[in-house]
Amino acid sequence: MHNALVIGASGGIGIAMTQLLLEKDIHVIASVRKHQISKFEPLNKLKADYKSQFTIVSMDISAQESVEKAFTSISEQTNKLHFIINCTGLLHDSKGLQPEKRLEDINADHLAQSFAINSIGPLLIARYALPLLRHEERSVLSNTSARVGSISDNRAGGWYAYRAAKAAQNMITKNIAIELKRRSPNTICVGLHPGTVDTDLSKPFQRNLKPGQLITTEQSASYLYKVISKLDNKDSGKVFAWDGSEVFP
Ligand SMILES: NC(=O)c1ccc[n+]([C@@H]2O[C@H](COP(=O)([O-])OP(=O)(O)OC[C@H]3O[C@@H](n4cnc5c(N)ncnc54)[C@H](OP(=O)(O)O)[C@@H]3O)[C@@H](O)[C@H]2O)c1
Repeated sequence: MHNALVIGASGGIGIAMTQLLLEKDIHVIASVRKHQISKFEPLNKLKADYKSQFTIVSMDISAQESVEKAFTSISEQTNKLHFIINCTGLLHDSKGLQPEKRLEDINADHLAQSFAINSIGPLLIARYALPLLRHEERSVLSNTSARVGSISDNRAGGWYAYRAAKAAQNMITKNIAIELKRRSPNTICVGLHPGTVDTDLSKPFQRNLKPGQLITTEQSASYLYKVISKLDNKDSGKVFAWDGSEVFP
């Protein structure tokens, strides 16, 4: 049986990915931020349905000790992960962090928060995940990126923090891939653009979308799973969109 870790399983894409992996008979460990574990009904329902195939741990990816503690707990459950799918991300919050429209909107604390979750978190995950990925079978470490993190594709500007933090994440993904080639050659590390997906993250920005552009979380998870399944070693370090096309830096 394959083992997967879904990080950010309380999010729209995270919960859909968790469900899809469970339906594929994969053993899933899902991580959520500590304060949510008992409150989050969809995960509790999956726990009731899948019992020992499914466990939940707490991990706040913005705090190094929390990431370390989570991986200690995960390594007590298994010594081998085949998939780590990081579905965390931050574009806006309820406390005033919003994507910037112009320079006057720049706020250093908001930039730091965005980098903590969209760029530094993925690096902390790799830091502690390495021993569980390093085995003789194929393994995939994916970070959820975003097309707006592509520098060459940036035509509209704005969204300084999110764009820059996702671009930094893409560099971190590439760096991890280079190191893993040497230290964990069966591991493929990629970034994934999930499409424009109907979640809390995209909700405030759904008004001007083209018909058909918005996809469901279930569609996105299913597309991303197909992409992950087809990856081989030469893909490591790259970013792929939901349809399998490469997103260039
Ligand atoms: N939706 C889209 O259209 C779209 C497009 C392009 C890229 N993406 C990317 O896709 C990924 C998933 O986004 P989504 O649409 O599913 O958004 P979402 O529903 O808002 O989910 C975001 C997830 O990140 C988690 N998270 C935030 N900060 C965290 C922290 N410090 N520690 C642990 N978890 C944390 C959230 O946990 P809490 O529930 O505890 O807040 C939540 O589970 C993100 O990387 C996003 O940038 C989404």
